[in-house]
Amino acid sequence: MTQQQIVPVDTDVPELVTFARTVEGLIAQGLDEQTLTSAIQAELTATLAAGFDLPAGTTEPDPDRYVMYPLHVARDGSFSIASAVWNVGQGTPVHGHETWGVVGIYSGVEVETRYEKPAAPDVPLVEQGTDDWGAGEVTVCCTTDDDVHQVRCGGDQPVVGIHVYGADIGTLPRRSYDPETGAVHWFTSTWAHRPSDAEGAR
Ligand SMILES: [Fe+2]
Repeated sequence: MTQQQIVPVDTDVPELVTFARTVEGLIAQGLDEQTLTSAIQAELTATLAAGFDLPAGTTEPDPDRYVMYPLHVARDGSFSIASAVWNVGQGTPVHGHETWGVVGIYSGVEVETRYEKPAAPDVPLVEQGTDDWGAGEVTVCCTTDDDVHQVRCGGDQPVVGIHVYGADIGTLPRRSYDPETGAVHWFTSTWAHRPSDAEGAR
């Protein structure tokens, strides 16, 4: 699978401009993924606690599938920030990210089941546990060596999360898994365009 072209996005939410600059500075320090994601987790926790408004059109669920709206995509593809929206009843397959990631809940409840990243192909996945994440909570969802989970909407309203990844997650080839067999399918998440965009295609 060839990687698609990165299209940079600059957030116009002042609080996220500041957050994105902080993430940029942390990445520039060349920290290991554990240290980097802990620092981003702390920054995102503080950003959510201080409060901000996401742009219109980046919190809306899609009736057919979960959606990821690009809030910020670094020019060099070193990181991206998404508003990820799961409608009531929606969830993902078991999947990996092939990079680091930090997820903070903006509104609603996300239910996450984690799995050990398989060391060998075609073996059943080993479940590590399930957590509920509510508004204001921030979790390190992944480092490259430990990045497999399944997430779904909990509760009776859509869940909106701020997802920060160490790549342009809308163009990065990554794996989904059949947890029963370990069978792998490679996929790329596509960015949802904001409804206000001229071309509505995904
Ligand atoms: Fe994920």
